[in-house]
Amino acid sequence: MRAVDIIAKKRDGGELSAAEIDSFIQGFIQDEIPDYQAAAWLMTIYLQGMSRQETIDLTMAMACSGQMLDLDEIAPLVVDKHSTGGVGDKTTLAVAPLVASTGLPVGKMSGRALSFSGGTLDKLESIPGFQADITTAEFLAQLRTAGLVVCGQTADLAPADGKLYALRDVTATVSCLPLIASSIMSKKIASGASAIVLDVKVGRGAFMKTKEEATALACLMVEIGQGVDRQVRAVLSDMNQPLGRAVGNALELKEALDTLHGHGPQDFLEHCLSVAGQMLILGGKAHDAEEARATLLEALHSGRALAKFREWISAQGGDLAAVDDPSRLPQAAVVQDVPAPRAGYVAGVDAMEVGLTAMLLGAGRAKKGDPVDHAVGVVLRAKVGDYVKRGEPLLTIHANNGHKLAQATERLLAACTWSEEPVQAPPLLYEIIQRD
Ligand code: URA
Repeated sequence: MRAVDIIAKKRDGGELSAAEIDSFIQGFIQDEIPDYQAAAWLMTIYLQGMSRQETIDLTMAMACSGQMLDLDEIAPLVVDKHSTGGVGDKTTLAVAPLVASTGLPVGKMSGRALSFSGGTLDKLESIPGFQADITTAEFLAQLRTAGLVVCGQTADLAPADGKLYALRDVTATVSCLPLIASSIMSKKIASGASAIVLDVKVGRGAFMKTKEEATALACLMVEIGQGVDRQVRAVLSDMNQPLGRAVGNALELKEALDTLHGHGPQDFLEHCLSVAGQMLILGGKAHDAEEARATLLEALHSGRALAKFREWISAQGGDLAAVDDPSRLPQAAVVQDVPAPRAGYVAGVDAMEVGLTAMLLGAGRAKKGDPVDHAVGVVLRAKVGDYVKRGEPLLTIHANNGHKLAQATERLLAACTWSEEPVQAPPLLYEIIQRD
């Protein structure tokens, strides 16, 4: 099969067979197909779209381009979750131990911060000693012994996706539903979990800006899962304002710990209970959302979820002294409240702007490989719907640089909008998408 014929077929609106897609992916990862042909192929997909079957075939071709983990030997059912990325999204830090403490193994490969969006591994690495980059053998061993492991993606997992994503990034072909869905699902499928809950974020601080786009992506990923015999559900959740209050690595870690101690922000806890609840249902630990919620609250209030968190962090080399006493986590040189410039109801806190400001402070990275500052970030003292008096703290900035502190103050004040009238807080969750 010649690459040029496969490109031409897609260009002319044809439907590619599984064999054609597989041969293109194989040729690409073996460097037989050059980047310029792969870039042209991506653009034909961007312009012509892909059928459901083509998207499933592309997902499997990318998943099979490297190692496919088989977790059956470890446990009959391992669950995973994946967020499409957002601001203040520290969900994995609380959800993974909550779920694992009910006896359901959680094995997960996570990512790092990029642009406005945070990354779970950076948050975990604010704990001194925590090892995010472990081998596949270590991943499997920890899943067996602790029932919980979260680490970086190994290089041999879906390598075709990594190579194609780098090309998409520079050829304006990222924002294409079949390419996004197959990219995410290929990695999830290769990492072996048999049940996956997708947290698809929608709004200002998300990849998907509208509910329609987010629903289409969620439905496509759920269908891909169904097509390859994985149980997949998607939770459509709001990302117009940051999730919880903290944005920044150590700050978010501390907020997740507060939540496991039973005194985290209510919106964050509710979101965690929804995502974890769906994981329990898929994992056969609960029949419905109500039963799942009761099981999870019991795990939380009994201290079992916190104990599982400690076990997990310790298994990956993290210093438990910092877990038990978060004042030992990285601390910024300057911690400064920003007073509300007026009285009123908070009408909006632009999640994208907050994420970009946290990045400016050093919490995130503008490009892959940049270092991050674990200490810096922002804590919101008011969220949408709250009434604030003039001069009361609106937010707190944690900074390591005076110039950046001044810039951040200006940007964050501009990111907040106000109303004289009471404002309804946005829903946390819009919809649960399932096909079972
Ligand atoms: N996340 C991914 O892993 N892939 C995409 O294409 C977009 C977001």
